[in-house]
Amino acid sequence: MSSTAQAPPSLDISRIREEFPILHQQVHGKPLVYLDNANTSQKPRLVLDALKKYYEFENANIHRATHVLSERSTQAYEGARERVRKFVNARESAEIILTTGCTDGLNLVAQSYARPRLKPGDEILVSWMEHHSNIVPWQLVCEQTGAVLKVVPITDSGELMLDEFDRLLGDRTKIVAIVHVSNALGTINPIETIIAKAHARGVPVLVDGAQAVPHLPVDVQALDCDFYAFSSHKMYGPTGSGALYGKRALLDAMPPYRGGGDMISSVTFEKTTYNTLPYKFEAGTPNIAGVVGFGAAVEYLGGFDMRAIAAHEHDLLEHATRGISEIPGVTVVGTAPKKAGVLSFIMDDIHPHDIGTVLDRDGVAIRTGQHCAQPIMDRFGVPATARASFAIYNTHDEIDTFLRAVRRVREMFA
Ligand SMILES: Cc1ncc(COP(=O)(O)O)c(C=O)c1O
Repeated sequence: MSSTAQAPPSLDISRIREEFPILHQQVHGKPLVYLDNANTSQKPRLVLDALKKYYEFENANIHRATHVLSERSTQAYEGARERVRKFVNARESAEIILTTGCTDGLNLVAQSYARPRLKPGDEILVSWMEHHSNIVPWQLVCEQTGAVLKVVPITDSGELMLDEFDRLLGDRTKIVAIVHVSNALGTINPIETIIAKAHARGVPVLVDGAQAVPHLPVDVQALDCDFYAFSSHKMYGPTGSGALYGKRALLDAMPPYRGGGDMISSVTFEKTTYNTLPYKFEAGTPNIAGVVGFGAAVEYLGGFDMRAIAAHEHDLLEHATRGISEIPGVTVVGTAPKKAGVLSFIMDDIHPHDIGTVLDRDGVAIRTGQHCAQPIMDRFGVPATARASFAIYNTHDEIDTFLRAVRRVREMFA
């Protein structure tokens, strides 16, 4: 990631597309146009090769055996941790807990950081635009402790109401858990401001970065967030792996979340002592291959200037937003001025599932439904939306195919 103030270099998209074998196929006799990237992204050859190499030459359990394969697999696993650390600029690799994904990291903070500290009447502050995985873990912890969930409302364009945030952030707030980029609306939240405001009152902040890390430069030290969770599969890596960044002082003071092998220092029936960071939070045999692939995905992304990726995806978003706004009967849901590459929309009284089905016949993959963010659907008074979401390999031509398909939906249901 470059730190120069100059404009980022533009991306060579056709070269990038060559790296993703899955994109070069036909669906229903049409070239695949994959616009479901907020759901999960496709994987470049570097990641596919890393997985193959791992299983062909390195596969063994980690941290345990003295044989060569175990050394290789441990090195590959710990090498991935170090790459992830570097990618988000954590101070030390002990601050990177390898998880099964963003959901796992959010639950870890809820159960290990918040649960032991919360008392009845304490408050947890989230926003109206959270994914279910940053709502339900807090509801569970509220049931367990008697704490109360407070929700920051949003405007009609899908922006966080910062004055409401100020009002809700009070003496009883024990943690703020906030999404960096909304998966349903695309809104980029001003998390720097939120973190500064929360810290001014001594409140720690957990950021759900699932939709941010693949698309924007993220520097956890510059943000000064206390925790930051994300998933490998949304950033061109395999499913079933991810990371939770946490400040060492906080992680050190937290009890383990799960018990099992590898997270202990010694075990007797009388007393167990726990391993050091980050292993204290990594019980049992992890998804070693998934983590190795995650490391390769981070290596792949690290080869770009993240500002160039953000600029490319912003350009795609603008092109798609302009085009879709010209189609009669379409309403875009989520029109905040600062957005990542997510375009949610509804069409007159055509159900989003019908939109998705017609688009699929044209080879265009989008997501339809509630996007695991039911409260946001309720906020906008819609049962569901259709959502196109963009990635590094998408092109203007693909957006044009998508727009033609949306027009066809209108013709069919007119
Ligand atoms: C904003 C946001 N947070 C959390 C998650 C959960 O990620 P995962 O299912 O990979 O754990 C998602 C997935 O869509 C998301 O978009």
